[in-house]
Amino acid sequence: MTTMSGAHPPSVPTSAKVRTPGASTGNEIELVGVEKRFEITEGSVHAVARTDLAVGQREFIVLLGPSGCGKTTILRMMSGLLQPSAGMVKVGGRDLWRGAQRDQVALQNLGIVFQEANLFPWLSIEKNIALPLKLRRVDKAQRLAKAHELCKLVGITGFEKRWPRELSGGMRQRAAIARALSYDPQILLMDEPFGALDAMTRDQMNLEIQRIWMSSGCTIVFVTHSIPEAVFLADRIILLSPRPGRIHSITEISFEQPRDMAIQTSPEFQDIVRSLRRELEAMG
Ligand SMILES: Nc1ncnc2c1ncn2[C@@H]1O[C@H](COP(=O)(O)OP(=O)(O)OP(=O)(O)O)[C@@H](O)[C@H]1O
Ligand SMILES: [Mg+2]
Repeated sequence: MTTMSGAHPPSVPTSAKVRTPGASTGNEIELVGVEKRFEITEGSVHAVARTDLAVGQREFIVLLGPSGCGKTTILRMMSGLLQPSAGMVKVGGRDLWRGAQRDQVALQNLGIVFQEANLFPWLSIEKNIALPLKLRRVDKAQRLAKAHELCKLVGITGFEKRWPRELSGGMRQRAAIARALSYDPQILLMDEPFGALDAMTRDQMNLEIQRIWMSSGCTIVFVTHSIPEAVFLADRIILLSPRPGRIHSITEISFEQPRDMAIQTSPEFQDIVRSLRRELEAMG
């Protein structure tokens, strides 16, 4: 594994980031010797090779790598949707799996956002957002109040009573983020959440997710195919090798946060993008 940490002159040291004060140092997610093989009729697919990774509290981690290298598989293992074939996943210091059972306390810490918003078409936006709270038996007034507060946070105030089909793709994705935040998870797992959006909406969503991350103090693990998106958002970029996925390199991105779009035109930013692109191309 090559570690590129410090390969690029940081604009400010990581410790000087403008962030919610009181950031603690513990690890929020740990993969310890995690591996995944899928059993299929023709044999077995080795999707993810033994991987160790520690994600710190309030860190913004981006997983980047060629198609099919195991990014979604890693995210699904972090979320408890998929059990590793070997190794251990720890969330907030707790083992996510106890045999075939998942630790419910660890699960409470996780919110998930996928590429498609996956809203229920028969529920209004506010009811979609409030659904996780309903499942947790939070009373109606309280959960709708929370849904309205979250609509404000993600910028869709005024659309609470609308149906998902009446919203644009970007707005639906904002609603999906609000739903994932409804129960105040400490960790947000996002699998190409903006992959289906046009370039301008995507830029806007990148600014939004940065703002939400900084104001909520949560930890984010974010999967993308876009190198500029990765460099714009990440504290650390984990570059994965082709299948079976393993960590190829880790790049620390030390630009001060919050970042604005103009940073993308800076030579330092473009250097990092170019160097990651070269690494990806070299993998073939
Ligand atoms: N349920 C499954 N059964 C069998 N093979 C699977 C299963 N899920 C994923 N795979 C295989 O595991 C490998 C990794 O898949 P994964 O979806 O994690 O890749 P990815 O990096 O997210 O790709 P993409 O960038 O295209 O989304 C692929 O070869 C895929 O075919
Ligand atoms: Mg994927």
